[in-house]
Amino acid sequence: MYNKPLATLQLVITLGALALSGAARAENFPVASLDLRSVDQEWGEAHRDKSVDNHELSIGGAKFSGGFGTHAHSTLRIALGGHGERFTANVGVDDEVGSRGSIAFKVIGDGKTLWESGVMHGREAAKSVSVGLEGVKMLVLRVDDAGDGISFDHADWADATIAMTQGKPETIAMPHEAAVVLTPKSPPTPAIHGAQVFGVRPGSPVLLAIPATGERPLEFSARGLPGGLKLDAKSGLITGVLEKPGVYEVKLRARNKLGKSERPLKIVCGETIALTPPMGWNSWNVFGCDVTEAKVRAAADAMVASGLNSHGWTYINIDDCWEGGRDAEGNVISNEKFPDMKALADYVHSKGLRIGLYSSPGPKTCAGREGSYQHEEQDARRYAQWGFDYLKYDWCSYGNIAPRPNLAEMQKPYEVMRAALAKAPRDIVFSLCQYGMGNVWEWGAQVNGNCWRTTGDINDSWYSMSGIGFEQAGHEKYAAPGHWNDPDMLVVGYVGWSANVRPTKLTPNEQYTHISLWCLLSAPLLIGCDMTKLDDFTLNLLTNDEVLEVNQDPLGRQAARVAKNGQQEVWAKDLADGSKVVGLFNRDEDEATVKVNWSDLGIKGRRGVRDLWRQKDLGKCDDEFQTSVPRHGVVLVNLSPAK
Ligand code: GLA
Repeated sequence: MYNKPLATLQLVITLGALALSGAARAENFPVASLDLRSVDQEWGEAHRDKSVDNHELSIGGAKFSGGFGTHAHSTLRIALGGHGERFTANVGVDDEVGSRGSIAFKVIGDGKTLWESGVMHGREAAKSVSVGLEGVKMLVLRVDDAGDGISFDHADWADATIAMTQGKPETIAMPHEAAVVLTPKSPPTPAIHGAQVFGVRPGSPVLLAIPATGERPLEFSARGLPGGLKLDAKSGLITGVLEKPGVYEVKLRARNKLGKSERPLKIVCGETIALTPPMGWNSWNVFGCDVTEAKVRAAADAMVASGLNSHGWTYINIDDCWEGGRDAEGNVISNEKFPDMKALADYVHSKGLRIGLYSSPGPKTCAGREGSYQHEEQDARRYAQWGFDYLKYDWCSYGNIAPRPNLAEMQKPYEVMRAALAKAPRDIVFSLCQYGMGNVWEWGAQVNGNCWRTTGDINDSWYSMSGIGFEQAGHEKYAAPGHWNDPDMLVVGYVGWSANVRPTKLTPNEQYTHISLWCLLSAPLLIGCDMTKLDDFTLNLLTNDEVLEVNQDPLGRQAARVAKNGQQEVWAKDLADGSKVVGLFNRDEDEATVKVNWSDLGIKGRRGVRDLWRQKDLGKCDDEFQTSVPRHGVVLVNLSPAK
């Protein structure tokens, strides 16, 4: 009887000794001694024992001789093989940025958050982290911005050390993903795509190409086309003018030797245009100020040669840097890179495409070129004379006119230009660009903007694209036909903002996320890439008609976020046919299961589930659907009442 406590004591001593000998066996590895080339960060390069700007590591006035300096957003993956014992570090914003910078550190083990710093600011004392790593195979050290952008987010993992019971930790580069084309090719039989509703103002010239795939030649016809409009049977181009307001239900038809296809088109002649989000190309994300007339023509050529126009892509938009100065009468003129704007517009129109340009309500554009300030009517007239169909109007130097604008001052320049455009004898889509100031989504429609940028400029990093995309939650109530939230242009394909173009840094799954999310958001789709360098993967992303249909759905609803579970999010959009499109997103670093419950969608009963990227039915489900979703990826499904 008395032996029992003794035995227990002995066991405790033995276990203690084992633990001690285990601790004695653990070997410490400074993270800085590992290969830091694997640090994936949004700005600069990670430095061993130094800050991102190459200074001695320093946090809250304290100096540290070891560790590494990086910059938000930053991810370092370290394989431990399940033999890690403990991770320790002192973290904070490096003193080289003074009081600026605000970041959040995270230590993640096999997808689970083991430690979080919370938001840390410049000059704040370092926080110590010490977490057990028992059984952890993949350790991730992550730095995020604090929701306020990444400027000055210099992040130090000082003294970062991994204790291992055996083996060595090994940093690993971001997993390489193959660029898998998920969508089957369009069949040779005819199929009509694109918007099923089209708005035009009375008296404005119509230029509407019927987007259709199928082996050429195709022969087009239309039933119910209103007088004033005519259809070219060979090209499928509808042109003409409608004088009277009205709604015209048209049935489009395309035929080739293999079959025929029909599709309804509702033409609404009234005051509202852009009844579905504009789809096209814009020069900025690829060429920046290096845009030329030749490059714009090449983009238009490629839009047709690649077949993108057969899927509804229409606009060819010149961003900043086409402007010269003004002539003696004050008319805006183009610079030497754009010798003839009218000829360029005619050329783009001759391909069945529409053309756009860019200006600023201020005296200068963002790139310091001629803006429209106090020349609004004259400029609108000029754009119309040249034959332009789209204007992006970018706040920029209007900040000098109204430095601390109240709401009325923010709205004023857009009202002035809208009034000027309204007088133009053609339809010009009006795109507001002021980065979301004054919650523009709440009043963009009121000033008659067809779309309004809700954010600052996008770039081709995961953090920029996903940060912007997923931040759109809540804006859905402001989107409607003719009035769209604009989370900025697409960053797929070859981008570069300069003469040097390079492939997007987004991984293939991130690109699927990008297009899926923008379609769910009913965002304007403006391809920002070099159209002469479209590879199969990029083409696949931009030509899946079932996915594009989500964007162009005539109901014009924007998706809402209906569920969020850590890094997994579910977004859903109602379509005109009564079905729902659901995006199951995984923002995490590892593959995860994402689930949608019918109760999150407010639906009941059996639904057919169709994978839109693969264009494949997945079967029927009764109250939920779940699936595995890759890192930073998406599965986009349509849920329709099962027959
Ligand atoms: C701003 C806009 C960009 C682009 C540039 C051009 O930054 O947000 O989309 O138009 O100006 O200078």
